[in-house]
Amino acid sequence: MEKYDVIILGAGAAGLMCAARAGQKGLRVAVLEKAEKPGKKILISGGGRCNFTNVNAGAGNFLSDNPHFAKSALARYTARDFIDLVKRHEIAFHEKTLGQLFCDGSAMQIVQMLLDECPEENVDVICDAEVTAVEHKGGQFAVMASEQMYSSPKLVIATGGPSIPKMGATGFAYDLARQFGLKVVEPRPALVPLTLGGDDVLFRELSGVSAPVTARAGAGKKKAEFAEAALFTHRGLSGPAILQISSYWRSGEEIGIKFLPEADAEWLIGLKKDYPRANLRTVLRHHLPDRLADALADRIGLETEFSNVPDKDLRSAGAQLADWRFSPNGTEGFAKAEVTIGGISTAELSSQTMEAKKVPGLYAIGEAVDVTGWLGGYNFQWAWASGVACGEAL
Ligand code: FDA
Repeated sequence: MEKYDVIILGAGAAGLMCAARAGQKGLRVAVLEKAEKPGKKILISGGGRCNFTNVNAGAGNFLSDNPHFAKSALARYTARDFIDLVKRHEIAFHEKTLGQLFCDGSAMQIVQMLLDECPEENVDVICDAEVTAVEHKGGQFAVMASEQMYSSPKLVIATGGPSIPKMGATGFAYDLARQFGLKVVEPRPALVPLTLGGDDVLFRELSGVSAPVTARAGAGKKKAEFAEAALFTHRGLSGPAILQISSYWRSGEEIGIKFLPEADAEWLIGLKKDYPRANLRTVLRHHLPDRLADALADRIGLETEFSNVPDKDLRSAGAQLADWRFSPNGTEGFAKAEVTIGGISTAELSSQTMEAKKVPGLYAIGEAVDVTGWLGGYNFQWAWASGVACGEAL
């Protein structure tokens, strides 16, 4: 039986950050990782360059049953703090778009930085150690991982969510949380392509076409819209605008797409006055990729020049282009989801320390918790911030 002050389950973004902080405080830390090397999701992130944070990160960029939960950790460890760390390690980076920061070189630099932050004398990162059982007796956690037993008075769940099972991702964190009586908010795929069925299937013929759009979904406080690119695929819709809106979409709901920033009910009436000889297809072709323009024109069906089209039909066409309704029949699931929405309920955890209220000594951080960020470096910022909040409290 190997004894430690803290055992962290999972050497991903949150687990490694937490280990670094705890190790720097002088605690003896074991990080148990089932894969053959640490930080595998970091390595594939951002197309291999890791979009490691977002300069705009704030609590408003996260979804959770309790949107206030993440505020404290995010305010105590900000994007600026992580950027300072990256600079101290002399890792070159750049802003790509919308505040998203990427390594100039490789995501490997971020994994190496996290490992370098873990003091060698205090932190053991043990790979090929799949945790299969945890017991809690007499204030000690006993952890079984690949035939070896480890024990400690404190245990941190940092095993992430089930997105990308091909990489070994599972719902292990949720099983463990349930074993300790903690509630789990129903997990579902997020930042995921949407699939189209019914009449929308016809749009699949546009596979490969991309266009800047505004995508909208949800209602009330859960309403959201994102102005970014959308991509038609052979199964439905993808691209950043769609991945973002997928986190707000619920099965059975519609999403609305605004194909042109200037489109509204009066847009085509204005064009009729200025260009009476123009028609809808030529106008759409002027603004959108030809295949998309033709598909929209075919479906709206106003083939004659504007001067011959009644205003009410132009109003209706303008309104459609401003809010085209799709009814996705599903998503591409955890196999293609960048993250998982839901997870260990924040109601069970302290927002200051990430410790379970019912089980002193048990903590949960990162994607395992019901806090999910937008696309664009926000999910790593949550992993860093929750890892630091926990690591400092251990
Ligand atoms: P993470 O999944 O990183 O780590 C959990 C670790 O626990 C894994 O190493 C796993 O092997 C281990 N584990 C699981 N079960 C275990 C068990 N039973 N025993 C031992 N170990 C176990 N976000 C972002 O902000 N910017 C980006 O650029 C990207 N890009 C991106 C691309 C792709 C393709 C994906 C799938 C995801 C992203 N993300 C992202 C999301 C980001 O990767 C994710 O939010 C973080 O990795 C979550 O960090 P965690 O440490 O919580 O889990």
